[in-house]
Amino acid sequence: MKKLEGKVAIVTGAARGLGRAYAKRLAGLGARIAVADRDLQSWREFEAEAKDMTAESTVAEIAALGGSALPIEVDVCDSAAVERMVERVVAEWGRIDILVANAGGGRGRPIDTKASTLDPALLELVVAMNLYGTVYCCNAVAPVMKRQRSGKIITVSSIAGRSPSRDGGYAHYGAAKAAIAHYTRYLAQDLGPYGITANCIAPGVIATGRIMATVIPGSGDNSRGRTDLVALKRLGTVEDCAKVVEFLATDLSDYVTGALIPIDGGLVRG
Ligand SMILES: NC(=O)c1ccc[n+]([C@@H]2O[C@H](COP(=O)([O-])OP(=O)(O)OC[C@H]3O[C@@H](n4cnc5c(N)ncnc54)[C@H](O)[C@@H]3O)[C@@H](O)[C@H]2O)c1
Repeated sequence: MKKLEGKVAIVTGAARGLGRAYAKRLAGLGARIAVADRDLQSWREFEAEAKDMTAESTVAEIAALGGSALPIEVDVCDSAAVERMVERVVAEWGRIDILVANAGGGRGRPIDTKASTLDPALLELVVAMNLYGTVYCCNAVAPVMKRQRSGKIITVSSIAGRSPSRDGGYAHYGAAKAAIAHYTRYLAQDLGPYGITANCIAPGVIATGRIMATVIPGSGDNSRGRTDLVALKRLGTVEDCAKVVEFLATDLSDYVTGALIPIDGGLVRG
């Protein structure tokens, strides 16, 4: 019997990158997975993501490995749509055991997003994609998990939410990710009496297709400069993060809640 046999998980932002790795890992452990994304074909945007795909979507990949997955196109910034997503999963499978609120990311360039010159529209967008999207998903699954008196919620911060960039750029993203980590501590207090855990992960620089194409564009030299700041002298992989998600989604972490777990290889921002 697999560790998560009979369990149901929602993974947001699961069409590519880290979310796809979380969805596939939990499916490999036997969970049924709602693969939620604003664009279920978002892997098409980055060549490295497209190359990595073994089928036309995360859902198809899970099915090919003998797992069960449900595709849900949803924008996590839309609270009503998030509620509908949860209703659909409950209608399909009757329960929700795990939420990985992974959808999110940044917008704009570091040079244009310094802390004292933030454009209100960009600030609103990035706070919505990250903080509001996370809160809406937690709000929507909480009543189901409370009824079950069990559940595991995993939220996603970032190294940027723990330590500022040297020049104060990308402040909107850092602030939103710091807010997610602190929100998760409140969530853990709120839901603990129902047997529900809530923990947050803070990835460092993880080599997803997006990061390799935008943050570390092509050149090996740039990539070397990045790894100098990492104690383990390499960038993270999606599997490095998926292993921690496995810990937080299974009984290995039953007495862990309100924690913030960095997954950054010992990165110190230079
Ligand atoms: N890759 C890294 O190095 C890194 C580091 C720290 C934190 N993170 C965080 O991890 C998460 C995943 O990162 P990634 O590198 O895999 O990102 P990515 O951009 O490759 O993938 C994000 C996925 O989320 C989806 N998405 C974005 N906004 C959405 C919305 N509003 N509603 C529904 N789906 C939405 C996208 O369509 C995409 O499929 C993000 O929250 C990111 O901020 C990543």
